[in-house]
Amino acid sequence: MAPLVSGAIMASRTSAVSVHGATRSFVGRQVLRAVDLEIAPGEFVVLLGASGCGKTTLLRLLAGLDRPDDGRIQVPERRSVVFQDARLLPWRRVWRNVVLGLPRDRARAGIALDEVGLGARADDWPGTLSGGEAQRAALARALVRQPELLLLDEPFAALDALTRLRMQQLVLDLWRAHGPAVLLVTHDVDEALMLADRVLVMREGSIAVDVPVRFERPRARVAPGFERLRHQLLQELGVAAAGHDEPVSLRAAVS
Ligand SMILES: Nc1ncnc2c1ncn2[C@@H]1O[C@H](COP(=O)(O)OP(=O)(O)OP(=O)(O)O)[C@@H](O)[C@H]1O
Ligand SMILES: [Mg+2]
Repeated sequence: MAPLVSGAIMASRTSAVSVHGATRSFVGRQVLRAVDLEIAPGEFVVLLGASGCGKTTLLRLLAGLDRPDDGRIQVPERRSVVFQDARLLPWRRVWRNVVLGLPRDRARAGIALDEVGLGARADDWPGTLSGGEAQRAALARALVRQPELLLLDEPFAALDALTRLRMQQLVLDLWRAHGPAVLLVTHDVDEALMLADRVLVMREGSIAVDVPVRFERPRARVAPGFERLRHQLLQELGVAAAGHDEPVSLRAAVS
């Protein structure tokens, strides 16, 4: 581990993410209060939390798009981010978007696009892609950088339910194939339980809940304990009333 440096972002080889006492304020209002977070190499972590609690703020710090006011953040050098919208440049062909900022390697872009099932669309303009296809192109752009840390900020939020399920499976397949540590932000408790090794709940600017998810993969929503953990997380999010034992609706969006 590198030495402690206040407000610093450093590269680490020992763990994928190591955050100690990270704080961030905007116009005098503290959004992140002493966030502590460890993510092991190759671990899949999902972050839940009410709207406005600071999830994107934390992701931006990990991505290096913003800096903490105080605290220490250690992340790998190779990191990729996918946001809710694909953020493709409309005046560049799909394959050029995939290797944006990298050497113009058509073959390399093609391999990444094949992996997300978009090989046939490499020469198309981004404007001709559907929402789900655009997000797959964004995933290809993230993966072509061979990230050790993949940051996903509600990447499926704008997609229909069926496309969303397919994207979840795709992310799992890509995670297995490439092995990056993943930090996925979502409002969907079911999504968290289907994907994560560990689920975090952010509250009042810090990580309030940190629970391992030990269901065997491939996972099913009927696995023993699934409903109990789901209910516990909904309670932590303030959605399910304490003592409420009835199953809550399948797709539990929290905002
Ligand atoms: N650049 C900024 N300037 C001022 N305030 C900001 C800035 N970035 C974030 N904030 C504020 O910080 C708080 C947390 O924002 P953030 O985007 O991290 O929330 P979030 O948990 O990702 O919410 P959501 O689930 O709605 O995406 C919000 O109140 C937001 O207005
Ligand atoms: Mg957000």
